This record gives sequence, C-alpha cells and structure tokens, in this order.
Amino acid sequence: MSTVPPTATLNPPAIVSTALSKGFGEGHARVMAVDKVALVARFGEMVFIVGPSGSGKTTLLSMISGILRPDSGTVTIAGQDIWSLSADQLAALRLNSIGFVFQDYHLFTRLTAAENVAIPLILQHHPWDDAIAQARRSLEVVGLKERGDILPVKLSGGEQQRVAIARAIVSGPQILILDEPTASLDGDTGRMIIAFVRERILNQQRCILIVTHDARINEYADRILYMEDGHLSEPPRASA
Ligand SMILES: Nc1ncnc2c1ncn2[C@@H]1O[C@H](COP(=O)(O)OP(=O)(O)OP(=O)(O)O)[C@@H](O)[C@H]1O
Ligand SMILES: [Mg+2]
Repeated sequence: MSTVPPTATLNPPAIVSTALSKGFGEGHARVMAVDKVALVARFGEMVFIVGPSGSGKTTLLSMISGILRPDSGTVTIAGQDIWSLSADQLAALRLNSIGFVFQDYHLFTRLTAAENVAIPLILQHHPWDDAIAQARRSLEVVGLKERGDILPVKLSGGEQQRVAIARAIVSGPQILILDEPTASLDGDTGRMIIAFVRERILNQQRCILIVTHDARINEYADRILYMEDGHLSEPPRASA
C-alpha cells in the first residue's frame, strides 16, 4: 500500500463525516449498517474502502453523497454540512460537486449511452448538442468511443459500468465516489480505468472515494480504510 502523498495531507478536507450512523429494522432485528463512522478524505487524495459484503460500505457512501439521510452524525462536503441543506440545495450540491457511480450502474434503459452520459450536463442547462458532444468525449476516455448510440441493454456489464463512470466524470465534479467500479471489468480494463481516474481526476486536486473488493487495484490507493460490521478503521501506518 502506498502512503498518503505529502502534499495531500496539507490539502483541505473534501469529505468529513463525524459519528455517522444508520440502522435498518426495529427491535431485535435492528442492524446498525453504519455505526459512528468518522472519515476524512482530502482534495488530491484517492481513498479506498474495503470490507466484506454487508459491512455497510454502500450505506456509508449513500449518506456521504446525499442520497440517504443518516440517523445521526454529520457529513461535510467541501465545507458544507450537507444534511442541514434544503432539498433543493442538496440536489444542486450533488449535481455540481459529486460524481457518483452506483454499484448497479443506474443507467436509463431508454436512453443511448451518450444520452445517459449527457444527463448531468443537461441538468446543468448545457445545450443538447454540446452536452452530447462532451458525453462522446467522456465515452472515448473510458474506451467506448464507438458505443455512444447503443442502448444499455445491448452493452455488456463492463461496458455499462464504463458508461456510468463516463457519466460521473463528464461534468468534472470536485468529488468522485465510486461503489465497486471494477466489479464487472476484467483485470486489465479495471486497472486502465482506475489508472485513468487517478491520473486525470486526482491531478486536478479532486477527491476520489472508492469502495472495492478488487485487490488488483489496491496499488492505486493513497490510503485504504477497512469497514467491518458498520465500523470504519484505518490501520496504523508501518512507518508512523
Ligand atoms: N434499505 C435497506 N433496508 C434494510 N436493510 C438494509 C438496507 N440497505 C442495507 N441494509 C443492510 O445494511 C447492511 C449493510 O448493507 P450495505 O449494502 O451497506 O453493505 P455493503 O458493504 O455495501 O455490501 P456489498 O459489499 O455486498 O455491496 C446489510 O446488513 C444490509 O442487509
Ligand atoms: Mg455495496
């Protein structure tokens, strides 16, 4: 595992959570999916969260990205306490500052790949033709230059995953959050995508948070955090 780049430790925090908790179910059946999680990820840093299935990773990402309201605790994105914002303010923050890749892609089945990728730009009121042209460039970046006019149903799982990544990066968000981005990609494609994300996004001093089971991409992380039974921990650094 690589260590945090020295410059990143001086950068302002992009994502901060304090005592973040979420439970599901009632009484004996209640499960604390996320239990008092404290997390800091800075601009210029690529942070991985790994952990077994059911340990709370997706629930944590959902609260950090403004999709799922926590039971308690706070999430601060680029200095803003997101769960104290109005619904409209939160929607605007999500649209303009966060790119999110869902574990199961969430592509619109009736829209082509390029139209799916263009959605954030359309919502930001870019003219249609410009948005589609920019979407095609984003698809090219993830190796899908020729697939822009195809409907998602005709794409492989890995290709759908890459369309979702192209959509998350198309508007250049400050913070990129990816839930299992390489799960359905072969090793070479997965490494290619993560290396690209690292080189192109991180170098612009953005923050990338990735949940992954894929040990093949661990070499790209600045820091790896472990999630288990709703708890997040950072192992002590060997050189500390
Ligand atoms: N909407 C929900 N309703 C009830 N329980 C839920 C809900 N979402 C998650 N859980 C429970 O919370 C726990 C954590 O789930 P979560 O999806 O966050 O895990 P995960 O670490 O992302 O797993 P995986 O690696 O399989 O994606 C699990 O016990 C799960 O069953
Ligand atoms: Mg998950």
